Amino acid sequence: MTSTEVANKLPKDFIWGFATASFQIEGSANVDGRGKSIWDDFSKQPGKTMDGRDGDVATDSYRLWKEDIALLAQYGVKSYRFSLSWSRIIPLGGRNDPVNPRGIAFYSNFINALLEHGIIPFVTLYHWDLPQALHDKYGGWLNKDEIVQDYIRYAKVCFQAFGDRVKHWLTMNEPWCISILGYGRGVFAPGRSSDRGRSPEGNSSTEPWIVGHSVILSHAYAVKLYREEFKAAQGGQVGITLNGDWAMPYNDSPQNVEAAQHALDVAIGWFADPIYLGHYPGYMKQMLRERLPEFTPEELKVVKGSSDFYGMNTYTTNLCRDGGDDEFQGLVEYTFIRPDGTQLGTQAHCAWLQDYPQGFRHLLNYIWKRYKLPIYVTENGFAVKDEHSKPIEEALQDDDRVNYFKGITASLKAAVLEDGVDVRAYFPWSFLDNFEWADGYVTRFGVTYVDYETQQRYPKESAKFLVKWFGDNIDADDRKSQ
Ligand code: BGC
Repeated sequence: MTSTEVANKLPKDFIWGFATASFQIEGSANVDGRGKSIWDDFSKQPGKTMDGRDGDVATDSYRLWKEDIALLAQYGVKSYRFSLSWSRIIPLGGRNDPVNPRGIAFYSNFINALLEHGIIPFVTLYHWDLPQALHDKYGGWLNKDEIVQDYIRYAKVCFQAFGDRVKHWLTMNEPWCISILGYGRGVFAPGRSSDRGRSPEGNSSTEPWIVGHSVILSHAYAVKLYREEFKAAQGGQVGITLNGDWAMPYNDSPQNVEAAQHALDVAIGWFADPIYLGHYPGYMKQMLRERLPEFTPEELKVVKGSSDFYGMNTYTTNLCRDGGDDEFQGLVEYTFIRPDGTQLGTQAHCAWLQDYPQGFRHLLNYIWKRYKLPIYVTENGFAVKDEHSKPIEEALQDDDRVNYFKGITASLKAAVLEDGVDVRAYFPWSFLDNFEWADGYVTRFGVTYVDYETQQRYPKESAKFLVKWFGDNIDADDRKSQ
């Protein structure tokens, strides 16, 4: 390119692909020595999932993995983001518990097959499926001293087994969801909450903050281990991925402008500020006082700078108004209805998601300016309203999802090429319709339709749109040379 030409494509080493997570797709819960995760029994309890269904079969990807990889290759992705099941690899989870060779073999073969197809494995170590045995033994994430050590050992086993081939690691997926949805609202496993109608145990005012603290430390010590014992030989990158949606003031009143920042402080800053800046956000300390655990100076040294990049999962934008008593949102009220009564964007199947692509560009700029590291967008997607009750041919014509991705990809390009934000990867969620946690199989996020009766996969229009868009908008296809 000459200096007078302006780049109009994403750089050639830009990574794109689709994302999934082990419990949401694998099924085969009792196969090859896998131990239970906290989602196994939880999803079977009456009322915990919308359709009463569990993860025992899901998209059957533990058995159909070769077909899945063939479809990824057909799509022409550069990379695939998936997660490892801790309890397949160490069925009881703990640092002195045996490693399951069949679990290792499964993922090892999987990684080899991806590489044979020229697909870069982008691997999440923990996407919410804590070994049940650790929860039973000592309360899982509630017990910092135990869980940090067990998590480090699990990470070490994975680095040892797969790190010769895996160069992109994510330690944790969405600590906010782990903490708040699992131990605050009690809607995700292990389902603890102060609401006794929901859970016989739990304390929503203290436990989420304790859990978040343990997750940060587990992440940070695993990264320390990677850097000290594996990085020189394996040469990979390791980081964490955080959820967080753009927060827009409801109107320009100073209270609401401040409220939007408070929303970001709790949704994102809770984890990102310690990890990238070395301290919890001031607002969280003010809101929680002694309920927010403290890092020792020694821990803080390990936490600060413990991610090689910024891993971003984001779906929507919230209009923010000061007030309410929801600490999990920073004492901020969220709405999608503008002051003039109009909706922010197209409504998804789930209540928390509307399509507002401008927010994605704002968020990319905010993260880049504040944390100053390359951004990997590791999740982003849309669930079309009532898709589950449509005949397949209609579901495949997923116009709302196509529009969502049209808007997002335009924002992505603008952020990179016009605003100069260093975005290096983009992974739409999800490769397949799958087990959508508390929504069961009702809410479909896939760009590939899954017929759960036959386990047949059918590309939706959105898959075709994305494949073409990335084909047209990345500088040159050097996929095979990676
Ligand atoms: C999670 C996914 C989930 C998706 C859609 C993210 O919070 O990481 O596991 O399926 O959102 O709800």
